[in-house]
Amino acid sequence: MGVPSFHPTVSVASEPADILGLVLFEEDVPHLDEPAFAALDRALRGFLRQSLLDERFRGKSGQSVVVPTNGALPARRIAVLGGGPRARFLPPDAQHLGAKLARLSSSVGARTLAVAIAHGLAVTDEPAWLEALVRGATLGLYRFDKYLGEEKREAGTLETIRLQTSDHLASDTATRAVARGARVAAAIARARDLVNEPAGVLTPTRLAERATEGATTVGLQAIVLGPEECRARGMGLFLAVSQGSAEPPRFIHLSWRPPNPLARVVLVGKGVTFDSGGLSLKTNDGMMGMKADMAGAAAVLAAMTVIAEENLPVEVHALAACTENMPSGTAYKLGDVIRSMAGKTVEINNTDAEGRLTLADALTYGLALHPDAILDFATLTGACIVALGPHTAGVMSNNDDLAHRWLGAARTAGEDMWRLPLPPRLMEQLKSDIADMRNTGDRAGGALTAGHFLKEFVGKTPWVHVDLAGPSTADKEWGIFGKGGTGFAVATIVEYLRSFTNV
Ligand code: BES
Ligand code: MN
Ligand code: ZN
Repeated sequence: MGVPSFHPTVSVASEPADILGLVLFEEDVPHLDEPAFAALDRALRGFLRQSLLDERFRGKSGQSVVVPTNGALPARRIAVLGGGPRARFLPPDAQHLGAKLARLSSSVGARTLAVAIAHGLAVTDEPAWLEALVRGATLGLYRFDKYLGEEKREAGTLETIRLQTSDHLASDTATRAVARGARVAAAIARARDLVNEPAGVLTPTRLAERATEGATTVGLQAIVLGPEECRARGMGLFLAVSQGSAEPPRFIHLSWRPPNPLARVVLVGKGVTFDSGGLSLKTNDGMMGMKADMAGAAAVLAAMTVIAEENLPVEVHALAACTENMPSGTAYKLGDVIRSMAGKTVEINNTDAEGRLTLADALTYGLALHPDAILDFATLTGACIVALGPHTAGVMSNNDDLAHRWLGAARTAGEDMWRLPLPPRLMEQLKSDIADMRNTGDRAGGALTAGHFLKEFVGKTPWVHVDLAGPSTADKEWGIFGKGGTGFAVATIVEYLRSFTNV
């Protein structure tokens, strides 16, 4: 399905549209004298106001009322959406409203949607609203329908979305905000596509092909290492995980190297294209969904395109050690002692704790690039979902400044992340009798021992670990999310890297 085109305009209400979407806040409702609303209501001779009263519209977030205009206005229908309390309405909320409006429009076959949301909000924030609306509307229309029969595919109808801007906003600022929103939405959609693709199709080899397709056209450098090259570099942990699989592993390295960069950042994504658990085999239920165990890799690889398109003055490397985790006659075994690329030996006490092994070697590869900061993204532990629920990512770090900066970017991007501690005593659980460490601790605090394991491989380099096992996929439609891959972390990565130019 095609993506609609977006046009900022100062007069949405006077232009023809299949739907005109209007946001009212809780404060607007008692009097309903908000000027944009009042003008529309006059044209409809009070019908709009009456409909809101009839439907008990209170301006609460999630509420919506759609009324036909019967020729009284250039728009064929008016959709009034609740924005909640005005003071608590932030760009992330605009994203979800954009998604809702776009879905609602598409479901009634609308081809043009006009959105009036900026009224009454601070003009200085307008670019952020516009960007959020564009991102939201695009993502709300996202479908992974390539395997559906023609009759089961919902044909998207929306072609044009016009967005109200105030006349104080320079038109090039508005155009730029729209372009930023569209770029991030496209990257998130690409990450979703990778996550949703079945593991039988998206093998490490295919993932590497998809990641490097078009990379050089936007100015990225792409390196893909096969098993022999990884062996030559000593990536013992990564190769141990891959040795049980019939599919060869791929180590992906995309880089963006602008002249005179303000900083150098390495992003590492977990790229397990299917996690069966290996010989520590998962149950059927536990294995279902494990095609998404490469969501971290999808996020860092997809974000790279935006970084190049926006020509950000930061040197960025995206790394993904991609492999399947399978049980077989050649699989790595419990009790095996493996030498990592860093030289540390690891005793395997659970082959299902494979993510941290692949990440450890990728982090070591990343440190050799001498980054100012290294960040990893991984569907790492079920324990993190138990700790924070399905919508929130766990953030662990060895550096408070970097952690704060990262969490700030997450807040701006509207992605739910929460810092977790790395209590030193938990390290005891990773002690081994015959190797430098083992790969798994107890069940309790499992997200944190995984964090501790990774921390052993980053030295003093400022590091952030994002466990996105929960939010990387969704099991129901909500806001900008549909069922399946969410593209989680792409928006925060872009926000974090953009922030280097604002300071
Ligand atoms: N890929 C899983 C983590 C996961 C679980 C992601 C559920 C998304 C949803 C990871 O490789 C894993 O199996 N972790 C184990 C660790 C344990 C063996 C220490 C887990 O969480 O059970
Ligand atoms: Mn696993
Ligand atoms: Zn895994």
